[in-house]
Amino acid sequence: MGLKNLFEKRYSVRSFQPKQIEKDTVIRILEKARLAPSAVNYQPWKIYIVSQGETRAEINSAYPKKWFENAPHVAVFTGLKGQNWKRQDGKDYLMCDVTIVTDYFVLAATEEGLGTCYVGAFDAGIVADALKLKDEDPILMVPFGYISEDAKFKVKKRKSVDEIAVWL
Ligand SMILES: Cc1cc2nc3c(=O)[nH]c(=O)nc-3n(C[C@H](O)[C@H](O)[C@H](O)COP(=O)(O)O)c2cc1C
Repeated sequence: MGLKNLFEKRYSVRSFQPKQIEKDTVIRILEKARLAPSAVNYQPWKIYIVSQGETRAEINSAYPKKWFENAPHVAVFTGLKGQNWKRQDGKDYLMCDVTIVTDYFVLAATEEGLGTCYVGAFDAGIVADALKLKDEDPILMVPFGYISEDAKFKVKKRKSVDEIAVWL
């Protein structure tokens, strides 16, 4: 799939088939995600694939929505605190690095025909407890799976190039 198609095809999927994804497929996605760039190439991230059992139940309680609970898998993207680059003025780039690896994962999953949704509005304390995180900051979660027939693609409402580009 060309990059333009991939960008157009990805949307926030909030309805999944109750079907597990083959591990080989998830590994293919992770093999692409791990190629993501990061400041000074520190790669300050971990990706937890949470599917079933007690840990999944705890993760669900951090974002208690039925559609999220129904996703067969959730990828949790954490940042390794203190292992990332900071700008000269102290600006911390951990969230930036973790967002990029999350994007790579999402686009690789889209290429596999899977549905994804970025989730940021979760209770980080619950996720940290569920995954027994010590020096890691949970930054994004991505439920993913085969797309249900009733999932709704909405035409993308985006600012135009004229609104966002500044030519100097
Ligand atoms: C950083 C980030 C956090 C988000 N958090 C949530 C969330 O907590 N719950 C949710 O349903 N969607 C969440 N979204 C999805 C956005 O609402 C969605 O991407 C946006 O409305 C554009 O729609 P599209 O993804 O279908 O193109 C998040 C997206 C991003 C990029």
